[in-house]
Amino acid sequence: MAVDSIDVQLPSGKSYKQPIGLFVNNEYILPKAGKKFETINPSTGKPICEVYEAKEEDVDVAVEAAVKAFKFGSEYRSLTSQARGKLLTKLADLMERDVEVLATIESLDNGKSISMARMDVQLSANCIRYYGGWCDKIHGKTMEVENSRFMYTRHEPVGVCGQIIPWNFPLLMWSWKIGPAIACGNVVVLKTAEQTPLSALKACELVKEAGFPAGVINVLSGFGKIAGDALARHDKVDKVAFTGSTVVGRAIMKASAESNLKKVTLELGGKSPNIIFNDADIDQAVKWSNFGIYYNHGQCCCAGSRIYVQEGIYDKFVQKFIETAKATVVGDPFKEDTFQGPQVSQLQFDRIMGYIRAGRDEGAKIEIGGERHGEEGYFIQPTVITNVNQKMKIMQEEIFGPVVAIAKFTDIEDVIEKAHDTTYGLAAAVFTTNLKTAIQVSNRLEAGTVWVNSYNTIHHQLPFGGFKQSGIGRELGKYALHEYTHVKGVHLNLEMPAPIY
Ligand code: NAI
Ligand code: MG
Repeated sequence: MAVDSIDVQLPSGKSYKQPIGLFVNNEYILPKAGKKFETINPSTGKPICEVYEAKEEDVDVAVEAAVKAFKFGSEYRSLTSQARGKLLTKLADLMERDVEVLATIESLDNGKSISMARMDVQLSANCIRYYGGWCDKIHGKTMEVENSRFMYTRHEPVGVCGQIIPWNFPLLMWSWKIGPAIACGNVVVLKTAEQTPLSALKACELVKEAGFPAGVINVLSGFGKIAGDALARHDKVDKVAFTGSTVVGRAIMKASAESNLKKVTLELGGKSPNIIFNDADIDQAVKWSNFGIYYNHGQCCCAGSRIYVQEGIYDKFVQKFIETAKATVVGDPFKEDTFQGPQVSQLQFDRIMGYIRAGRDEGAKIEIGGERHGEEGYFIQPTVITNVNQKMKIMQEEIFGPVVAIAKFTDIEDVIEKAHDTTYGLAAAVFTTNLKTAIQVSNRLEAGTVWVNSYNTIHHQLPFGGFKQSGIGRELGKYALHEYTHVKGVHLNLEMPAPIY
């Protein structure tokens, strides 16, 4: 049964139409059990509205819709690759057309500042458009060995892709997942994070408007242990792509192993080192490092949460870093000049405050911040911690908040050892004006992304993913296409006689 959109009130006093059903077969439908759950506005801690919750049986319905859309001879499978590309580029255009409403929903549901939310929508559209361009450029190779035979490869879609995304970049993660999956000719059942279901549901209106055949993109709101697990375990799901915590990444691999051995890609946590050498342009290093940790309120898998500063400039760097951090505009995400809004949930707020407490208890020094900001909502002051050592919990575990630890190092060997001393390997940065240092250190760093003299400038053309326990596989760029295709080798016998035994 179809479900109507509801009017959702915005802080400005205006309202917009929010779809709340499960998006299956291009319709917003009622789940079988008909249950709803609330999504919270993290700026106030109060509910925004309720959306319908997918349970196991609804995952089945969505997977069936995807299987049908993927059937050989279906409308979708009969599209030319260029026509498929046009669906994505049209979707990107529509996202740009609706940037204001999408960004507003993102700010409301996630708490990110409106200026950053607009950037997220633009980055999302860029990603979708980029993959639209790939559709008619995905092909195999020919291998001519001898006259009697001919061989070639085909890059075929994997099939039904289960995708599970987090709450830190709701629309952007939706785009990173859907873009390459569709580019390769797959169909999708995506589960959003329970904290932030709204923007993806709204964007599904655009999926329909862009002209995607029914069942190609299906989006479910629901909880990880129920709908997420059902997707990861489903026998008719051919691949699962996940972004989130390392703990859940493990659970997803296990679910795949215990079911049909579906392909798994994981984009997990990080504890990324940001290394500042004596010869760095200190003012630029300070500004980028602030952006490196406080962007998206520190809720960034690649956040530069461990800053290592070489002895010669340590004191000066810390002093300037603190001055810059103090100037961060924290508050109402709907104010144009706000940089930092609230953390996404009470749970995340409590986790972060727990880490700050652990740092204090282990003898670290809280230079600034460390407390709640304001009276309501989940705001945390930008926090700078010094006097740390590698063994501390705050130096080993992902905090996922506006909290940075700054430590000192002596030389390259010292900092490489410290940088590598976690289970993660997602990202890293090097600040130096010496080309040799920049290249030699970035070559040695165990990280899927290295920034030289910048931070957090992710681009859809460059692959993103983790070394070590930060993940498996790559997203973005051409590299993501490998994760969404099977390569088939075909032998063509031209005039080879059968072997005689
Ligand atoms: P999470 O890993 O529990 O949630 C991410 C997604 O996985 C959500 O859609 C959730 O519903 C789903 N999920 C949860 N349990 C599942 C299961 N058993 N099977 C299938 N899907 C499941 O992350 P959470 O609890 O929201 O955040 C905890 C920590 O994870 C954060 O503090 C942060 O350290 C890390 N994290 C990392 C992210 C990244 O971008 N790599 C994003 C979000 C969180
Ligand atoms: Mg919310």
